[in-house]
Amino acid sequence: MDRRTFLSWVGVGTLASSLPVVIAACTSSDTASDTSSETSSPAANADGFTEVGKLAELEGSGSIAQKDFSGAPLLVILNPEDKTQVVAFKNQCSHQQCPVKWNADGGTLDCGCHGSKFKADGTVANGPAKDPLPTYEAKIEGDAVLVKAG
Ligand code: FES
Repeated sequence: MDRRTFLSWVGVGTLASSLPVVIAACTSSDTASDTSSETSSPAANADGFTEVGKLAELEGSGSIAQKDFSGAPLLVILNPEDKTQVVAFKNQCSHQQCPVKWNADGGTLDCGCHGSKFKADGTVANGPAKDPLPTYEAKIEGDAVLVKAG
């Protein structure tokens, strides 16, 4: 075997041996993009409700939040007057769209931007907000917390 033939075979061998590495790199890249899609909301059930979390999660942390539910952030709380019910809100203050946080001690949804407070049903307790938080239909089924996009 002359030198040119030998180098040609080495080149083919190198290419053939690196092909699985290239394929593996592409595969792990695809897996990474699949992971990012986990943040989007799952598809709605036939009745239009979507599971947004588990009851245990809601009881543990006091609220469930999603960054994107039907195009807007979502906040779900247990109804403080009936812990068998949930209340779901579009999590954008009606004053200037800041997110609100559930204040379990005060029983209000508080906006950190300008101090508005909303009652657990979404109505205004303290301004400057004048309009209530938009709500979604929500329910508990078994251990699942379900919300219907409006
Ligand atoms: S954005 Fe909430 S009080 Fe202004």
